[in-house]
Amino acid sequence: IGTVVYENSVVASQSVAQEIASLIKEKQALNQPCILGLATGSSPKSLYAELVRLHKEEGLSFHNVVSFNLDEYYPMEPDSINSYVRFMKELLFNHVDILPENIHVPDGTLSKNEIGDYCDNYEAKIEAAGGIDLQILGIGGNGHIGFNESGSLQNSKTRLVALDHITRVAASNDFSGLNNTPRTAITLGVKKIMEAKRVILMAWGEGKSNIIKASVEGPVTNQVPASFLQERSNTTFVLDKSAASKLT
Ligand code: F6R
Repeated sequence: IGTVVYENSVVASQSVAQEIASLIKEKQALNQPCILGLATGSSPKSLYAELVRLHKEEGLSFHNVVSFNLDEYYPMEPDSINSYVRFMKELLFNHVDILPENIHVPDGTLSKNEIGDYCDNYEAKIEAAGGIDLQILGIGGNGHIGFNESGSLQNSKTRLVALDHITRVAASNDFSGLNNTPRTAITLGVKKIMEAKRVILMAWGEGKSNIIKASVEGPVTNQVPASFLQERSNTTFVLDKSAASKLT
């Protein structure tokens, strides 16, 4: 894992946005789609703001972008206030020229017996697109990537998962209380994340410093799914000073 440390999350996000913009344009020059794996949560908000700015002010086009989001709560209606579909529309998709048919976010409205086939198909679509060129990740306080919680296997597939208590507590403000916070989610599996051609994990703030240290310098263990990233190349943790503060 390479680590790059910036003064703050705004300049860090600008540099990630520059890399994404370069990749999109490189693919445009080759007349190829650019397959992006996208995350939600607070960490990528400034990245999406910068991508929107690059579109509006510098003419960056998303016409060749195909996106696959990591996860969605289950159950979840797409227009609900906490839906990741809604999050992505409001922060990115509604403000750029990505084609609606190129957007993929796991569907939180399925019936339970449909989820298995749906998840297999989600992975098949990624494979048919040629795999993920660049995967954006955040990291949970327990080391989760996507919603691959502690105990997830390195070869885990896209699936319905039970959310950890710590993950639900972190989300409980958004849902006005733990009782209203979903217990399950659909997540891209660790395997597809590991197969991405490039991975950028972003983390900001003191609160992430311990799990960043464990993920980068600790043992590779399924107790800390982000530590699996040590076993792949072309992986960069983009951090602000506080998130990096415990690294040796
Ligand atoms: C979101 C996701 C999660 C978050 C993680 C960090 O799509 O996959 O793994 O990246 O929970 O969330 P924030 O950025 O809100 O600290």
